[in-house]
Amino acid sequence: MKFSKVNGLRGEVLVPGDKSISHRSVMFGSIAKGTTEIYNYLQGADCLSTISCFRKMGIHIENEGDKVLVHGKGMHGLRRPEGVLDCGNSGTTTRLISGILAAQDFDVTLTGDASIQKRPMKRIMEPLSLMGADITSIGGNGCAPLRIVGKELHGIHYTSRVASAQVKSAILLAGLYADKETQVTEPYVSRNHSEILLKYFGADVKTVDTTAVVQPAQELYGNVVRVPGDISSAAFFICAGLMVPDSEILIRNVGINPTRSGILEVCKAMGADLTVVHTYDGDGEPAADILVRSCALHGTVIEGAVIPALIDELPVIAAMACFAEGETVIKDATELKVKESNRLEVMVTSLQAMGADVTGTEDGMIIRGKKKLHGAVIDSHLDHRIAMTFAVAGLCADGETQVLGAECVNISYPAFYRDLERLVK
Ligand code: S3P
Repeated sequence: MKFSKVNGLRGEVLVPGDKSISHRSVMFGSIAKGTTEIYNYLQGADCLSTISCFRKMGIHIENEGDKVLVHGKGMHGLRRPEGVLDCGNSGTTTRLISGILAAQDFDVTLTGDASIQKRPMKRIMEPLSLMGADITSIGGNGCAPLRIVGKELHGIHYTSRVASAQVKSAILLAGLYADKETQVTEPYVSRNHSEILLKYFGADVKTVDTTAVVQPAQELYGNVVRVPGDISSAAFFICAGLMVPDSEILIRNVGINPTRSGILEVCKAMGADLTVVHTYDGDGEPAADILVRSCALHGTVIEGAVIPALIDELPVIAAMACFAEGETVIKDATELKVKESNRLEVMVTSLQAMGADVTGTEDGMIIRGKKKLHGAVIDSHLDHRIAMTFAVAGLCADGETQVLGAECVNISYPAFYRDLERLVK
């Protein structure tokens, strides 16, 4: 795909459903009793991988586009799949499903694409093994394919080195099947969609500071889930609206759960003209319309507790910082190295290729803004968030920007280019 400078972005956009909540609604619905009715389910490749894994384990799931019906079979209703479970490109599918599979009365092999087979799985293998799980990396490298033989599990109190909702959720899901209470303590609170949705499905889950606590469950109960728009997808329009001069964009129905909305804080700290115009209280997951207008931005420091609340937005925030006055420093973000690509390295080299003044550091980067960007050929590394970031950067750079592997936006936002194009004046 090729992109060049535009004279402003204007209009409204309705971003697709939240990826994290979509995955969880199908997973929890599958192990709940009764039917779960999901509206605004994200029809991206990652969430379709989750549907396909549970179908393979005998769950009847009707996907009618905007509405998904999951006919759950209860905590012990899954059956051994024929062949391997393919999680595609989805880390959330791989890690969360492992927590459920660890406790089943069958064995299974989990795998995914080339990117998944490089992503660290020890972070879930270690705590699940402490709970009594039998989980091995077939290649012995701590990555998928994983072999999981279901076992009886014990409750533990696990202290995680990383603030990761995927790790926390895998443990909480295994904890539903354990013999006693399970606790997970994180260095900072990561996204809490599992805690909210599990509670909504009838589980006994609570949060005390940075610790999530789950009790063993007899049953979960299916429910209606209305998935708010994904703030991680909205992020591309928030930043585009701020970066492209003469822009005004209204982004409707965006999930603003505080464990996800760090981008709003950071944009405000950079001087953004951003208004939360209307808020809705979904079933525990608040949403809002966000109005963004282009304006002068200045640099900021992004570090510590806010990092997990904007981890997936850091690539596009880094691109936006190139248009801010002064220096933006991103710290405590080593997790970016183990996402769908090494996002720290890819962001630094790709922004440099466009002429930006960026220096990579051990745990982040330093961006000195206001250096004019020029078009370049950017390899997305088949990472959806990198492709969307450079589509946006290309709208503010001189000359042409070409994004290779641009179709990977299919993972989280299949209609992204069409929605972006519609806003061009
Ligand atoms: C996710 C958690 C985050 C995030 C990912 C989705 C989730 O990963 O980057 O896109 O749905 O739980 P980590 O848990 O590895 O931080």
